[in-house]
Amino acid sequence: MGLGLVWAQSPHTTAIAIHSVSVDMPASDTVFPPGPGSDLAGKCLICHSAGMVLKQPALTQAEWKAEINKMRTVYGAPIEDSDVDALSVYMSKVNADQQAK
Ligand code: HEC
Repeated sequence: MGLGLVWAQSPHTTAIAIHSVSVDMPASDTVFPPGPGSDLAGKCLICHSAGMVLKQPALTQAEWKAEINKMRTVYGAPIEDSDVDALSVYMSKVNADQQAK
């Protein structure tokens, strides 16, 4: 199972291909824990479950930033540039909390 940790080295991730992507992923009723930024994280649920995002290995805030930017550039996630910082702080926090369980 790919955990998506190879993309940072790939020179191809910035290429933007315009094509329609049909995303078929297991549904989950898991939602993001409430907190500053959780409203932004709700946008991630357009395409996949909170559980799918939260089960990632603990990433640093910088790694989350890259991950969020990948979602924006590769998959077209509707996240504003100005929201990436706040969202990466939120993601690294809830993701670390998740590891601690
Ligand atoms: C427009 C659809 C879309 C949106 C919105 C979206 N993602 Fe994704 N995401 C995907 C797809 C497609 C994959 C690849 C799934 C796979 O490989 O099975 C993915 C995979 C992931 C992965 C697994 C690692 C990887 O790189 O494949 C993480 C973590 C992730 N997304 C986080 C996020 C976060 C955080 C947000 C909100 C900022 C977000 N996603 C918003 C489509 C989206």
